[in-house]
Amino acid sequence: MALEVVMTPGADGSFAMIPGPRGGGDGLAEIVAAGGLHNYQLRLHAEYGPVVRFPLPGAATAVSVADPVLLEATAKIDERPDKLFEFLAPLQESGNLQTIPAAEHTPWRRALLSVLAGRRSHEAHFEQFVTLARGLADRWADAAAQSPIALQQDLSALSLRMICEYALGRGAASPEQADRIVSAFEDVLTEQLARLYQVELPGTEEDRAFRAQEALAYLRAVVDDVLAAHEAGPQPADHSDLIAAMAVAGQSPARIRDTVLMTMMAAHHTTGVAVSWTLYLLAQHPEVAERVTEELASVLGDRPAPDYADLKDLPYLSMVLKESMRLYPPGPYGAREATEELRLGEYTVPAGTTIFYPIWAVHLNPEYWPQPEVFRPERFAADEAAERPRLAYIPFGVGPRSCEGAALAMVEAELTLAVLLQRFRFELAADHPVVPIERFVLWAADDIWMNLTSRSSPAQS
Ligand code: HEM
Repeated sequence: MALEVVMTPGADGSFAMIPGPRGGGDGLAEIVAAGGLHNYQLRLHAEYGPVVRFPLPGAATAVSVADPVLLEATAKIDERPDKLFEFLAPLQESGNLQTIPAAEHTPWRRALLSVLAGRRSHEAHFEQFVTLARGLADRWADAAAQSPIALQQDLSALSLRMICEYALGRGAASPEQADRIVSAFEDVLTEQLARLYQVELPGTEEDRAFRAQEALAYLRAVVDDVLAAHEAGPQPADHSDLIAAMAVAGQSPARIRDTVLMTMMAAHHTTGVAVSWTLYLLAQHPEVAERVTEELASVLGDRPAPDYADLKDLPYLSMVLKESMRLYPPGPYGAREATEELRLGEYTVPAGTTIFYPIWAVHLNPEYWPQPEVFRPERFAADEAAERPRLAYIPFGVGPRSCEGAALAMVEAELTLAVLLQRFRFELAADHPVVPIERFVLWAADDIWMNLTSRSSPAQS
């Protein structure tokens, strides 16, 4: 692909002067040729600088901003461009939660945050998270002797279990029902992603569409059952129950069904890949892995898992996770629609423009991250972090549409890493190259395959 500057910055700083690639078309061919939007954003910014104008399918022309100081001008925008997120609309009954207007979004976000961001809800679900993480470690201990483990597959399944338990609370009453909920959700998501990325799947399109519709109807019915149970019984007032909190906040049953589905969708691959990429980096940096396990040993002693209160005493683990999400941001980009004219450094961008958040390029911006490709968790020590602009690190996005699940995701990921690193050594399996691709999240094309050895005696593994 030939990228050429067709417009150079001019004295008037107008939109037309923002540098970017030439060419007609909607930009899809260039994105495909670069190996995906995540790679394309890196190329564009390396070539044209921190503000780039480029054709983005579904948005006509977008402006991508990779400088954290310039990003501040966009940080209060509370609208996403409809077209870019319309692929999620068929999964929603009450309007697309990604793009509902700010006036509707604000109270919904407040209700969601009152549960997701609160320590009380993390503590209330922690024990169940521990059981699920330890269950995976037990299965891995049994399987690891025979063959390598596919991290993304198993860790995404684990985070889906966790979020089901979290979002449905009393709804997932039995392990059998939890299994059914998980597999219904996977049917819906697999079909959705296959359509979005034009991936070939077995079976006819009609059969798969029918199956996905049935699965969606089943998931909605499960949420309705939980809602009915809440209406029949007293409402817990402790902000640990998502569905109860949404009902108390006056959200409609359809909006609550959509919220549960959207939460599952936003939570499970993201958290699963965050843990997978962290283990991938640790396998290549055994000295860092050793330091994490020393920290774990000093805080946990012989205990196989942390308590919720222990997490704050694991600062190095947290730094490792953050550095991993810098190098492999699970959600590699976001977008906004400018609601008024914006000044981006020397340029003026009119209202209505799609603003693109190239999260990967922001995290690799050499101006704020010396030797950006190097894995160095110490970047997140308090004194180093304080030197950087606020928006130099944005794995959970920016402003009023940023991720409501950020705090919960950190709890889940730290707990999972603590359990697994305490139990196993990880070594990359040969002949399985790891290639990042964008599949809604920053995924590894052929998963991340690891050989595991137990850190405890073979009898315990
Ligand atoms: C490591 C894990 C996760 C990462 C990296 C991540 C990242 C992101 C990103 C980049 C966005 C878009 C933000 C923007 O446009 O500025 C987002 C949105 C969102 N995330 Fe997460 N997420 C994670 C886990 C979770 C979890 C665990 C939940 C819920 C339990 C969740 C719920 C959401 C929701 C509801 C949105 C939509 C925000 C809105 O439109 O108001 N995410 N996430």
